[in-house]
Amino acid sequence: MLEKAYYRSFQAVFNIGARCLYWRRPIEVSGPGSTERIPEILKKENVKKAMIVTGPSVGKKLAPRIMEALDAAGIAWVMFAEVEANPSVGTVEKIREMYLESGCDGIIAIGGGSPMDAAKAAAARIVRPNRTLDQMAGLLKIGRKLPPFIAVPTTAGTGSETTIAAVITDTATHHKYALMDLHLVPKYAVLDPKMTRGLPPKITATTGMDALTHAVEAYVCWTYNTKESLRCAEEATVDIFRYLERAYRDGDDMEARTKMLIASNKAGFAFTRAGVGYVHAVAHTLGGLYNTPHGLANAVILPIVLEDYGAAVYPKLAKLAELTGTAVSGSEKEKAEAFIHEIRAMNQRMEIPTGFDFIQEKDIPQMIAWALKEANPTYPVPVLYDQSRCEKVIRRVIAEA
Ligand SMILES: [Fe+2]
Repeated sequence: MLEKAYYRSFQAVFNIGARCLYWRRPIEVSGPGSTERIPEILKKENVKKAMIVTGPSVGKKLAPRIMEALDAAGIAWVMFAEVEANPSVGTVEKIREMYLESGCDGIIAIGGGSPMDAAKAAAARIVRPNRTLDQMAGLLKIGRKLPPFIAVPTTAGTGSETTIAAVITDTATHHKYALMDLHLVPKYAVLDPKMTRGLPPKITATTGMDALTHAVEAYVCWTYNTKESLRCAEEATVDIFRYLERAYRDGDDMEARTKMLIASNKAGFAFTRAGVGYVHAVAHTLGGLYNTPHGLANAVILPIVLEDYGAAVYPKLAKLAELTGTAVSGSEKEKAEAFIHEIRAMNQRMEIPTGFDFIQEKDIPQMIAWALKEANPTYPVPVLYDQSRCEKVIRRVIAEA
């Protein structure tokens, strides 16, 4: 009881503090071919030499079209295309060195979460040369404007192009930590569906469900939300319900791809402002223990946790059911249940499993400890879990496989 009272007081105080901050959003440039506008953005920002940061595959397949556009506009560039999944401190330092040695004055990060995180962290090191990454870990430790920063997502899901976070791994200690500062929000988000065209259906489905989880988890939080974050979560949910399966079935559907990128961006803002919840907290434990892809873990856990929250989330889920057209009549409970049922149906249509049979009995205590540590007290979850309730949810994830 005392613990729960502490968590709720922490969240109430945090909410007051958060309202005093300026929550900037990136300038959005969207639509098919919008990456062609990058040279124009760089010229406006007076960038003479841009540094492109990406991973090996995107560096080969998708970055060349941006490099060609820069060449045509007479803007110099260098590229670092070696960002790995879960970027390390060493990678961030290499990016910083290349940026400084090459005399760059702007950054273009292309990819999913990892290249964005690495580029954001490198930019933080550039403006704060006397602070190490681990000295900037945590909240609001950067406090200086980054060089002009353009984020180009290649999946519609993570929302990294709009968030305040950069997650870095110290490979020596296996410690994974996040830098969180409003200055880490990229100045521009270029949402070009052509950059997501080649994604396999499976990745389209799971990254899209990650975006849905961001929107729904943020929406049902009991505090931190603002009118804008609620609106973004609602609009993202509606568009994900409408367009995700279209993008899944036809990867060349540029309208669906565009709408998904915009929805993911809105969901990213919603959870940046309002937080996530136990779906993410449990999903992260599966990523750490079994390398389960983040979006897949969220897709499976989302309906289970929403059902478990029960009456506490009926009003909010009923509203989402109405907005998405899932259920427009009936009681709040019936509408909320219809909404959860539709999430399960979407999963099924996109061949996402209903549970995971690989979770091992011996790992459950560790999963509970990690999930509760991640969520409490920071995430303003609608229902606070203790160990036994968290265990119940994990056992349902196994039972539903
Ligand atoms: Fe996520």
